[in-house]
Amino acid sequence: MCGIVGAVAERNVVNILLEGLKRLEYRGYDSAGVALVNGNELSIIRRTGKVSALAEAVEQSKSTGLDKGTTGIAHTRWATHGGVTEANAHPHASQDRFAVVHNGIIENHKPLRAALTEKGFNFVSDTDTEVIAHSIASYMQDGGDLFNAVQQAAASFEGAYGTVVLDKTTPDKLVVARSGSPLVIGLGIGENFLASDQMALLPVTRRFIFLEEGDVAQITRTSVEIVDANGEKVEREIIESNVEHDAGDKGGYRHYMLKEIYEQPHVLRNALKGRITSDGLVDGIFGANNAKSADEIFSQTQYVKIIACGTSYHAGVTAKYWLEQYAGVQCDVEIASEFRYRKSFVPKNSLLVTISQSGETADTLAALKLAKESGYMSSLSICNVDGSSLVRESALSFLTRAGAEIGVASTKAFTTQLAALLMLTLAIGKHNGMSAETADDIVSALISLPAKLEETLGLADEIDELAEEFSDKHHSLFLGRGDQYPIAMEGALKLKEISYIHAEAYASGELKHGPLALIDADMPVIVVAPNNELLEKLKSNVEEVRARGGLMYVFADKDAHFEDDDTMRVVNVPHCMESVAPIVYTIPLQLLSYYVALIKGTDVDQPRNLAKSVTVE
Ligand code: G6P
Repeated sequence: MCGIVGAVAERNVVNILLEGLKRLEYRGYDSAGVALVNGNELSIIRRTGKVSALAEAVEQSKSTGLDKGTTGIAHTRWATHGGVTEANAHPHASQDRFAVVHNGIIENHKPLRAALTEKGFNFVSDTDTEVIAHSIASYMQDGGDLFNAVQQAAASFEGAYGTVVLDKTTPDKLVVARSGSPLVIGLGIGENFLASDQMALLPVTRRFIFLEEGDVAQITRTSVEIVDANGEKVEREIIESNVEHDAGDKGGYRHYMLKEIYEQPHVLRNALKGRITSDGLVDGIFGANNAKSADEIFSQTQYVKIIACGTSYHAGVTAKYWLEQYAGVQCDVEIASEFRYRKSFVPKNSLLVTISQSGETADTLAALKLAKESGYMSSLSICNVDGSSLVRESALSFLTRAGAEIGVASTKAFTTQLAALLMLTLAIGKHNGMSAETADDIVSALISLPAKLEETLGLADEIDELAEEFSDKHHSLFLGRGDQYPIAMEGALKLKEISYIHAEAYASGELKHGPLALIDADMPVIVVAPNNELLEKLKSNVEEVRARGGLMYVFADKDAHFEDDDTMRVVNVPHCMESVAPIVYTIPLQLLSYYVALIKGTDVDQPRNLAKSVTVE
């Protein structure tokens, strides 16, 4: 989704800004722009399309000297209000003096726009962001300085925003405000930076200050001053980032997604390291909050509510099966955007678990905020990004250690989330009478998982070949039962995200209640079929498809005894223990969607219209 980069320095910052935007490309966007102040000259260059088009435009403006600036702000826009046009791209200006970039949505932009128009401000875009630029110009008309004007303007905005403002008459500073959309300040030596995501600034610094809700800050080359939501001056902690610098490198793979699929055995090893041994789960791995350890909280937990979006939601649905089957605790899973707008019942001793790769998903954050006010006993976030809003705002957090995930379609973040949730199942199950045998089984399944994933990746060539058969298909159906149903959901999501083939997932028992009407030879049916107690039921569902001329692609354990024939292509997945089967069966479905997308020639890492981190509703 939208990305922000800013810099105040003695040197020309244009390359820092462009490199920062490039490093944010993975989040998804449709236009880009930069504003630079050189002396007292403000130049704004914007383009629709990729950051490379913006970089070319900057290069072309060399002859006019407008390609330079010691202070600047830059932005990648993912359209919300107004189409994808140059006029709607950020930065937006007011009076050829103020330039503004913004992530989020100003919900009351219509009345503000009307009031500002009344005051004589001329709007040239369809965006809500232009309201910010003119509001600040309007407050500056009454005197005062930029910092106060931003504070006053911020107080009039409703909605979510992370915004950065530049005034060409005071070119030595930037003013930023955060409410709902993340912003991080990067500390340099004699120069300072800011961005919506630390990834953008890793080439220039590793020292970061994460702004909190309601903060307004002024950044110069040598100083950072922050005022909190109550208008009080505050010092925020400086955090040394340990995110890999070269995470932006494809490492010889054709796409980040493929690299990330192949990284799974390695990141799973990291996720388990120091947390599980052959003796079981290591104590204290879910941390503590104030005086209460996670273990104490788990011992009191009678109900688990899981909230997430997208792929992370599918991890949650899988965990419901595990928590109820193995840990004996009641669990419900809900999409964050639904949960946040309905009145829900909170049973006694409820634990809220949020799952998120980025830790910045607007709906998940809002759901957490709401849950904190509604009587949950405690909150745990399972997240991939240390220092993210979700981690900071949850009582307990557990990092998935998947490393930076660049491909918009989530892969390694998902499988590490599943491993984390299986560890949570062990941790809660311990207090609910989980048998030693079940616990030992899960522990040894987890320990052998990285090697099992390596073996499963060996299916790549076979799946690549099979993907050919999907190239002319427009629809597909994914079937699974039990804890493989959410894996079918995730497989369908992957296929639609990156190949644009319509894909739907069904619990196979539901086949007769509708989807069977769709079955014909043009509708591939993908079945995930490990060798578990539901196998015979699943086999009946397979026969129902076969009888209607459907073409099936079955990912199955060898011992499930499916065989290739005219109506069925079988891919034998390495035999694995039941508890980790959802993680193992995820791999072939990821590979399938990747190879189908390759054949379709889509933009695998940045699929159209999608964003990596959805920071607006
Ligand atoms: C977007 C991404 C998905 C992700 C979802 C939730 O839609 O494209 O890959 O699953 O957001 O994101 P989160 O960071 O909260 O896991």
